[in-house]
Amino acid sequence: MSIEIVGYGLAQAEQAVTNTELSNTVETSDAWIQERTGIKQRYFSIHKNTSDLASEAAMMAIQDAKIDPKTIDLILVATITPDGMMPSVASLVQAKCGLNEQNCLSYDINAACTGFIVAMQNAQAMLEAGFVQNALVIGAETLSKILDFNDRTTSVLFGDGAGAIIMRRSSTKKMLHYTRSEGDLQGVLTSDGLALNPEMQINQYSSHFLRMQGQAVFRFAVKAIEDVITKVLQQTNLHVDQIDWIVPHQANRRIIEYVANKMNIDLAKFYLNLDQYGNTSSASIPIALSEMKTKGLLKEGMRVICVGFGAGLTWGGSYFES
Ligand code: ACO
Repeated sequence: MSIEIVGYGLAQAEQAVTNTELSNTVETSDAWIQERTGIKQRYFSIHKNTSDLASEAAMMAIQDAKIDPKTIDLILVATITPDGMMPSVASLVQAKCGLNEQNCLSYDINAACTGFIVAMQNAQAMLEAGFVQNALVIGAETLSKILDFNDRTTSVLFGDGAGAIIMRRSSTKKMLHYTRSEGDLQGVLTSDGLALNPEMQINQYSSHFLRMQGQAVFRFAVKAIEDVITKVLQQTNLHVDQIDWIVPHQANRRIIEYVANKMNIDLAKFYLNLDQYGNTSSASIPIALSEMKTKGLLKEGMRVICVGFGAGLTWGGSYFES
């Protein structure tokens, strides 16, 4: 069975913050951030929580798809920064978008920066099984909630935002996924701090702040991206020259340049907007897709590979035809 994407949407958080502005809070510089990451600015949310950004992106995707919202019967949100432990962000989106009066299932997925790929894979399985007809799939984050602005090694990298797509069965368009994980106890990329029972001294350093061993993540990321592109190409029986776009998780320009060079792929094939958004984790791929759609870069029939990698560790890719 085939699956197609029929609508795209995104939501920017309210406040654009340049590197220079950030350097008033954190000991850093525009030159350092741009040279090491390619990031020029990011958006931080001031008043909106993850479900607000997710709902905005969802409404844009529904409008773009030109479908009756009442026909949406699955809502998936990939996020690592939910509004709270429960209800899920997906349930909040269902309420905020007025999608309560119908047969619809909503739940969140946490696979960190690979979350949107895993959500697409879940949606495809539910569509192909015939359990649902129209899936609203969202990646949404307010990472500013978990940034430690005393830690320059992490706080300069991330931003807030949301992206959304509508998926449904198709008669012609192919979609497939490759997803993997490897449990990490070394704390390469973490945000813990949920063991609130004082008797439960699981982790005396427990903190909700995002912590990262940057160079270990860099080494993991380049291996993961190469693995994903190789495996997805094998599954599709296509050569990379037959792929129109590679849309990677927007973590760091140097990571992408390294992979492009190693795999001998033209850097221009990778869609990059991390200079404007920073790393928005689960939201980075759907924000990029929505932006590409709006700019007219996703033409009918184009072949696209999306690549995610992040905490868990998790990594994975999606192939689809636009
Ligand atoms: N401003 C100025 N100086 C800084 C900053 C900063 N923001 N951050 C670190 N430095 C300093 C360090 O203190 C260090 O100083 P020292 O030499 O005096 O000790 C120096 O810069 C070099 O630090 P490194 O950590 O070696 O810098 P590196 O070149 O490795 O770049 C970076 C750091 C950008 C984090 C890089 O390791 C990286 O990109 N890693 C991957 C990160 C990533 O992509 N994470 C997300 C993927 S998964 C997900 O999205 C959740």
